[in-house]
Amino acid sequence: MNSDAQPARTLNCESREARAVLESRGLKKNYRSSQKIIPVLTDANLILRKGEMVAVVAPSGAGKSTLLHLLAALDTPTSGTVYFEAKAIETNDDAALGEFRNRAVGFLWQRHQLLPDFTAAENVAMPLLLRGEKFTSALEQARKWLAEVGLEDRADHRAGELSGGEQQRVAIARALVTGPTVLLADEPTGDLDEQNAWAMFELLERLHRAHKLTSLIATHNLALAARCDRILGLEHGVLRSREAAAIAGEGPGGEAS
Ligand SMILES: Nc1ncnc2c1ncn2[C@@H]1O[C@H](COP(=O)(O)OP(=O)(O)OP(=O)(O)O)[C@@H](O)[C@H]1O
Ligand SMILES: [Mg+2]
Repeated sequence: MNSDAQPARTLNCESREARAVLESRGLKKNYRSSQKIIPVLTDANLILRKGEMVAVVAPSGAGKSTLLHLLAALDTPTSGTVYFEAKAIETNDDAALGEFRNRAVGFLWQRHQLLPDFTAAENVAMPLLLRGEKFTSALEQARKWLAEVGLEDRADHRAGELSGGEQQRVAIARALVTGPTVLLADEPTGDLDEQNAWAMFELLERLHRAHKLTSLIATHNLALAARCDRILGLEHGVLRSREAAAIAGEGPGGEAS
């Protein structure tokens, strides 16, 4: 991975990196807990190219959620920069940040964080309402997305009354209703049994292709990761390219690109 210092806030459009949809350079994240500093990401470099479906596989606590939150600008790095379509995300510009969060990236939370007392359709419509769309139009689009994830007959159920797998599908519809370029999915199959995990992954693959998404999926499930275009590991705060076999302990990988 190119580790050149990058003083410019916009990457050279002729460069290899400019073809990246989402990129991180030198991403570092320390948390502070009482008096202690907890280093989680030390130098995370990533290039996600258009149309790729990439898995991040690493043990619990390695920093997968931290990485995804930084890439989605849901949290601020200690240092380093995230670029979307070759342009640095300016974390101090609230308007630009809101636009990026609401239009560029769809985020599937590790715990899907639906509002249990609202209906499935209202949950899916929420990001559209937040960006100022009219209620009727937002609900119409939400129903279309619920149909796309196979839940049209659950649109008016309260989210808290749906099964875990159904709630996860509502969360996928909510992540994609804004028409994002990038899908960041944090352990989308984490709480599901094997059969539902496969169904969920197949749904993600289908949506990824149908909507020409660029997707990054954090998962513990190696069999599912192996179906992605490539796999990254996260070790000591650094991303590394991995083959499925290497993660299982059969060989080393190289730093990610
Ligand atoms: N807000 C926080 N304050 C302090 N430490 C934190 C905070 N968030 C995360 N951490 C710590 O950072 C490390 C990485 O956490 P993270 O949630 O990114 O891991 P993960 O790889 O997503 O794990 P899992 O697979 O269990 O979801 C953990 O040791 C965690 O305790
Ligand atoms: Mg996590």
